[in-house]
Amino acid sequence: MNKSLDLRWISKTESNNLKIFYDKICLNRDAANALINMATAARADGVSIGVTSGYRPPILQQMVWDYWNKLQPDIVELEVAKPGYSEHQLGTAIDVTSEEIKWRGVDYKFKFTKTYSWLKKNAKQFGFIFSYTDGMKVYGYNAEEWHLRYVGRCMAEEKETQGMTSLDFLLSLCRRDDPVCGIASSTLNWCGAI
Ligand code: DAL
Ligand code: ZN
Repeated sequence: MNKSLDLRWISKTESNNLKIFYDKICLNRDAANALINMATAARADGVSIGVTSGYRPPILQQMVWDYWNKLQPDIVELEVAKPGYSEHQLGTAIDVTSEEIKWRGVDYKFKFTKTYSWLKKNAKQFGFIFSYTDGMKVYGYNAEEWHLRYVGRCMAEEKETQGMTSLDFLLSLCRRDDPVCGIASSTLNWCGAI
């Protein structure tokens, strides 16, 4: 377990409100707690949240890459980051799904679910932003409405207030000298993942 990323497991049985795949999911501690709180709030509104992927070390990212490369070699670069370049390596990114699409992961129908609409409205309150909603013209990847990244509530709300794309927001954090939400920007590890 990588201690500097402050990772922890979320087991299948930890929360009745969050559907976990593959027995357990590894995530940054703050992101894990925020995800469970978010799923509990969603459930209270009649909305289901499942998580199909969390922390992925480079070796796991390579396996994901190899899998998609076999399946769809023509578009693998639009779908999967190379090992060392994925937000999942930070431990703060998640791929989510919904009961409405039979808990299928990485599915383009996710954007038509109530879960997605609920997250668009509420995820920022729990500190999550959508990384790749604007599609390949901006990021180099196809849009991924199921992929969220935990940045903490203060920053998630600041991004929303400024109306920036995720990429512009994250790049602006790299360039800023002033503290962001009380945290010195030089101590934030934003630049490595974009
Ligand atoms: N699917 C995203 C881009 C990743 O592999 O990190
Ligand atoms: Zn993802």
